Amino acid sequence: MMKRNRYFALLAILVIFQQVTTATAALKVAFYNNTACQNVEKTVRAEVQKRFQSDPSIAAQLLRIYFHDCFADGQCDASLLIKKNKNPSTLKPEILASTNLGIRGLDFIDFLKQQVVAACVGQANIVSCADIIALAARDAVALTAPNRRPYAIATGRLDGKVSNAANAETLPGSRQRIPDIISRFAKAGFSAQETLILSGAHTIGQSRCKFFDDRLYNWRGTRAPDPTLNTTTLAFLRKTCTNSVASKESRVFLDQNTSSSFVSDKSYFSMLTQHKGVLESDQKLLTDPSTKGFVKPLADGTEANFMNKFETAMKKLGNLGSTTVVGSKGDIRKVCSVLN
Ligand SMILES: *[C@@H]1O[C@H](CO)[C@@H](O)[C@H](O)[C@H]1NC(C)=O
Ligand SMILES: *[C@@H]1O[C@H](CO)[C@@H](O)[C@H](O)[C@H]1NC(C)=O
Ligand SMILES: *[C@@H]1O[C@H](CO)[C@@H](O)[C@H](O)[C@H]1NC(C)=O
Repeated sequence: MMKRNRYFALLAILVIFQQVTTATAALKVAFYNNTACQNVEKTVRAEVQKRFQSDPSIAAQLLRIYFHDCFADGQCDASLLIKKNKNPSTLKPEILASTNLGIRGLDFIDFLKQQVVAACVGQANIVSCADIIALAARDAVALTAPNRRPYAIATGRLDGKVSNAANAETLPGSRQRIPDIISRFAKAGFSAQETLILSGAHTIGQSRCKFFDDRLYNWRGTRAPDPTLNTTTLAFLRKTCTNSVASKESRVFLDQNTSSSFVSDKSYFSMLTQHKGVLESDQKLLTDPSTKGFVKPLADGTEANFMNKFETAMKKLGNLGSTTVVGSKGDIRKVCSVLN
């Protein structure tokens, strides 16, 4: 009898425990509505808007932070922001991975967290940094896409407690083969078409010359440009990327439609059809068997067609980690760049 009761007591504890952990795992829209931080979405939007006015490149920076954070270890857990692990001598954080070279805007996430804390009467343990990133990326999309309302994005993420540079090596590179990129995305649950759609974030992106200048000057050791690059674009890019050492760090827009540099639109795909893709890993999407069937339809479709698909993919990206960073694996970081 005793044994039996103990068994049921244990079962009851397990059931309660499971409910607690699933409760933390479930993301939902307006997660913070019944907390002291019910204005978090308003606060983040106002601050992103303000920053965008003085520096429109913040939008692409926020999308990149969101993608790099979520994709690296398959978890949107703000691990990208961590400057130092608890055991710094043995574990290098994600931000030091070569794939995260030149990432910008991390300070802005720290700033957003401060503003959020101030707006919820000083409480720093309510809104996660991972959620702030997801909200800020959402607002960056809305700010750059004409006539789009901010899409609803679920919140309730937890912040991770470790950050491992090795996890970030899976991020795609500008010279990587498309089949490799597609297989990495497949592991994270994305189809080839979704991978292509997410690369549409490059519609507002920039790149340093060093990530593609072989295409301008010495393609595959030929001492000649990549013959698939549109000659108009070649001449234009060579003005900024002069092949000097200094110019390797200069930046150009990935969407070569100069009237939509800071506009989230389908013109990135039109540029690919005109062979004006800047990165090798962008241009090859036009010809790779797994993606080529989707590029022209996106370029020829409506803006809403692309944006609907893009926003859906952005939301899906935001779900990474919602079942893994739960319970004691996560917490709410007080300062986004510093572990509690
Ligand atoms: C959350 O709160 C906002 C503002 O108070 C409100 O507009 C929104 O409808 C609420 N959302 C949900 C799902 O309750
Ligand atoms: C370039 O961008 C502008 C502004 O978004 C757009 O109207 C135009 O159609 C785009 N051009 C191409 C070729 O995509
Ligand atoms: C190169 O760009 C021009 C417009 O700038 C376009 O008319 C032409 O078709 C493009 N060439 C190729 C090979 O796509």
